[in-house]
Amino acid sequence: MNIDILLGLQWGDEGKGKIVDALSPSYDVVARFQGGPNAGHSLEFNDVKHVLHLIPSGIFHHGKLNIIGNGVVLDPAVFKKEIDTLGVPLDELLKRLVISTKANLILPTHRILDAAYENYKGNLKIGSTLKGIGPAYTDKTGRNGLRVGNISHDNFKALYDDHTNGHLSILKNYKFKFDLKEYEKGWFEGIELLKKFRIENTEYLINRLLSDGRKVLAEGAQGTMLDLDFGSYPFVTSSNTITAGACSGLGISPTHIKEVFGIFKAYCTRVGSGPFPTELHDSTGEMLRKKGCEFGATTGRPRRCGWLDLPALKYAVMINGVTQLFMMKSDILSGFGSIKVCTSYKIDGREQDEIPFDNNAVIEPVYAELDGWNEDIRGISDFKALPENLKRYIEFIETQTGIPVKLVSVGPSRNSTIFR
Ligand code: GDP
Ligand code: IMO
Ligand code: MG
Repeated sequence: MNIDILLGLQWGDEGKGKIVDALSPSYDVVARFQGGPNAGHSLEFNDVKHVLHLIPSGIFHHGKLNIIGNGVVLDPAVFKKEIDTLGVPLDELLKRLVISTKANLILPTHRILDAAYENYKGNLKIGSTLKGIGPAYTDKTGRNGLRVGNISHDNFKALYDDHTNGHLSILKNYKFKFDLKEYEKGWFEGIELLKKFRIENTEYLINRLLSDGRKVLAEGAQGTMLDLDFGSYPFVTSSNTITAGACSGLGISPTHIKEVFGIFKAYCTRVGSGPFPTELHDSTGEMLRKKGCEFGATTGRPRRCGWLDLPALKYAVMINGVTQLFMMKSDILSGFGSIKVCTSYKIDGREQDEIPFDNNAVIEPVYAELDGWNEDIRGISDFKALPENLKRYIEFIETQTGIPVKLVSVGPSRNSTIFR
């Protein structure tokens, strides 16, 4: 059987959690392949909102297996907090969740280093979520990491002390105050909880499941424009958020990939620093933020808002090999009168739709303007019943990207989803 991948095409927070949850009944397995607790995936059902950071968004479905893959960096303290507050009994979670031996651990000192580095950067800071992501992946690629599979070893505490002391010696160079003990308590409690779960070489498990004909959905975190290689470096996260990341982050071959669901908001948002060509600093941007409740699910920070950026979307479609587009938060655009879409960039007086290497390039977005709609679309479940101007907007995106929009989301809850 094949694997389908769902990933973000913008700067994260596109609505991945909601859709993975909504699609879960059609899959046997949901697997996270990269990122860590920097992610905040919201999903809503029975009028309750849940925010997941590490745990795959299929976790609320009985009988589905959820995998935290080798490409994820896992903070045991966050893991414990999440498990304790999910509202699903532990004995049930122990059946639903498996964790890769090869997922790297985020140590308490990784979080402290993250904060110290950001503090040192001052105005040049990335705007990290301060969850320790960068330092943990740095240790992974530097071959200094501790992994989930190490926690059952007799020398684990000694290894932990070695790593921590190494980090503390780096921290001596930064004038940065911290309280390690405060982090450590929750971290070691998390380690004890982790030991109760199935910890396996999940690359074997997932390939076995595929051979047995099971359907797997890979859940991305962050978004393509935050990808370590293809995002606006250095204002990116530290993992590969793209389709290729699912192969290395789960141990599956590209030949298993069938559908690539590329998810995007009907407009754009970004949290943290870095280029954002269509960002609006005016009342329209404020209206998008207010109507869309655009405040970070992980840090609560206000998200920067702007119109849809087609050069960025087309780039993401190309890098990921997207086969189906899913458009989110369409309801938020109701009542805007007219809607702008950036179709190309003007740089030094020349129009182009290639994203420039230089983050400091002055980009003037070139916009197409489409008529808006005023209808409240939140209760609509049939594509045909959507306002004509919204359908024109969708058609415009399809023509520009060459990819069909197969899902339109019209509200935060599981049910507010129109499949075409
Ligand atoms: P993720 O990180 O990609 O899972 O996205 P987040 O959960 O961080 O952010 C998406 C936000 O939009 C959440 O608050 C969702 O509840 C909400 N949301 C998702 N889809 C829709 C939609 O179609 N309409 C509205 N109004 N909200 C949505
Ligand atoms: P989900 O999965 C939006 C951003 C941060 C910062 C940069 C680096 O919910 O879409 P990091 O903590 O990785 O060192 O931060 O990336 N960022 C996200 N923005 N959604 C996310 O995840 C993000 N994860 C990281 O704001 O700019
Ligand atoms: Mg999010």
